Amino acid sequence: MGKKVTVVGAGFYGSTTAQRLAEYDVFDTVVITDIVEGKPAGLALDLNQSRAIEGFETKVVGATTGPNGEGYEAIEGSDVVVITAGLPRKPGMSRMDLLETNAKIVRQVSENVAKYAPNAVVIVVSNPLDEMTALAQIATQFPHNRVLGQAGMLDTARFTNFVAEALSVPVKSVKTLTLGSHGDTMVPVPSQSTVNGAPLRDAMPAEQIEELVVKTRNGGAEVVALLKTGSAYYAPSAAAARMAKAVAEDSGEVMPVCAWVDGEYGISGVYLGVEAAIGAEGVKRVVETDLDADELASLKEAAEAVRAKQADVASM
Ligand code: LAC
Repeated sequence: MGKKVTVVGAGFYGSTTAQRLAEYDVFDTVVITDIVEGKPAGLALDLNQSRAIEGFETKVVGATTGPNGEGYEAIEGSDVVVITAGLPRKPGMSRMDLLETNAKIVRQVSENVAKYAPNAVVIVVSNPLDEMTALAQIATQFPHNRVLGQAGMLDTARFTNFVAEALSVPVKSVKTLTLGSHGDTMVPVPSQSTVNGAPLRDAMPAEQIEELVVKTRNGGAEVVALLKTGSAYYAPSAAAARMAKAVAEDSGEVMPVCAWVDGEYGISGVYLGVEAAIGAEGVKRVVETDLDADELASLKEAAEAVRAKQADVASM
């Protein structure tokens, strides 16, 4: 049977995600929803008109939804639902400043997703990411493996890009990794980072690595400061779309994602940025990577920081 993916939220993040998913041409249907009347239908019409040029058969459907589930029939039978709903940051804001506003939105969306697409794998991208992922699991009551968040692939892509630029080498020759939270306790993993297969630590001095780590941690904020009216969407949507594709194709691809951690790294009972194999059931398994002592200590710190915040969202 043909695959169906829904993207909730027709802002820049949602619409670019829908575009990428349609252009992959691996889904029968891409549904895009929003609370704004007409906008999702307009985007769907426009995307469908690009089919003949881009050469894909996927049909895009737009649906306007309401708080009590109005319009949600459109998402029925979705294999994957990407939740982008919520407000983006404005200049000077931290992701955590969005907590209360976005919690209300993500809870309402998640409840409707649970009702209309009870078998879907849910990929959350709304901020603050780790907390909104935890909330979506609570609100859907889906098993933890079927709710995950997008952040690690984005942070890793940013780190890789900055390393490649600094060394003037192709991005292809660089491999980096970031774990932890999508925020202040992001954990870069230089010990697993390489340039042409050789350790990153041999390719640049420790201070330069640290500079690029800081740049990566501020990667999203730097874009927000320049755009002024919203946050990044090209790199974020690329990451979210790849995750949805891995689910649809049951690929088992290992990627950095926000996943429920249950004993790995000695950490339990929290949504945290880790590497995981992604497939039809969402997270097939969390993949533990060798970390040096400092990196492991930072990951444990990140886990405790997000654990405290994730406990708060249960009542939001
Ligand atoms: C970013 C936002 C989307 O990192 O979290 O750009």
